[in-house]
Amino acid sequence: MKKTALITGATSGLGYEFVKLLSKDGFDLVLVARNQQKLEEIKQTFSNIQVTVIAKDLSIAGAAKEVFREMEDKQIDIDILVNNAGFGLMGKFDELDIHKQTEMIQLNITALTELTYYFLPGFKRKNHGRILNVASTAAFQPGPLMAVYYATKAFVLSFSEALVEELNGSGVTVTTLCPGATKTNFASIANVEGTKMFSNAMSSDIVAQKGYEAMMSGKRVVITGGLNKAGAYSAKFLPRSLAAKIAKYVAREK
Ligand SMILES: NC(=O)c1ccc[n+]([C@@H]2O[C@H](COP(=O)([O-])OP(=O)(O)OC[C@H]3O[C@@H](n4cnc5c(N)ncnc54)[C@H](OP(=O)(O)O)[C@@H]3O)[C@@H](O)[C@H]2O)c1
Repeated sequence: MKKTALITGATSGLGYEFVKLLSKDGFDLVLVARNQQKLEEIKQTFSNIQVTVIAKDLSIAGAAKEVFREMEDKQIDIDILVNNAGFGLMGKFDELDIHKQTEMIQLNITALTELTYYFLPGFKRKNHGRILNVASTAAFQPGPLMAVYYATKAFVLSFSEALVEELNGSGVTVTTLCPGATKTNFASIANVEGTKMFSNAMSSDIVAQKGYEAMMSGKRVVITGGLNKAGAYSAKFLPRSLAAKIAKYVAREK
């Protein structure tokens, strides 16, 4: 029987790479993002699989439930959930717009948590399901100048790793992808293009491939790139105050 994957943030960057990888393996797809036209354009590129598009702003309260209800109404059974949509913002916490920052929390944390909550019972009933949550190397330390973004990704990692234990033996796997700087629209939206942290950004197809393989093999956490791995592991052993200072340093202009 055909299996279906739902991908949030499917219209660009890592999300679009996941779309390509999943379609190559024959999955039917449900694509979620805000831009209806882009979603339709992507849908038109596929003829061999069923593609459903949902134009939805997941930073609006209740949007995740609406996505789930739409799947119920259309009787689309989801087997893979890719919680990928997210964004960051650079700047001092008190100087950034509070509404944009709470929108970020709503998208990066609340929508991801709610979608997991709504789809998980179905996965457990089938004794099968895969969840890929996109965090970041930002998850491993505090991030001055991107304080809220780093904190949202720490939530994603902690939440996902806790679920791995709760779901042990259930047939449902949860994988957290922790990319470092990656060439997508993220940097221009977050206003971090000229920073040290983006001087060696990885390409999105390589990052997505690593995440996809990890999800398919049920791996717990994947950090992409040797330098990013080294950074994430060393952050575990450094005093948090020093790790925060390093994060502030790489957030500076090149
Ligand atoms: N690129 C990096 O350096 C990097 C590093 C670590 C982690 N990440 C994480 O990777 C994930 C994917 O980001 P990306 O780098 O691929 O960025 P991207 O190219 O900007 O893609 C973001 C995707 O999310 C969608 N999106 C944004 N806001 C949304 C909303 N409110 N509701 C629904 N969909 C929304 C966008 O489509 P619409 O605009 O049409 O809604 C787009 O499809 C994010 O969680 C990000 O935090 C990225």
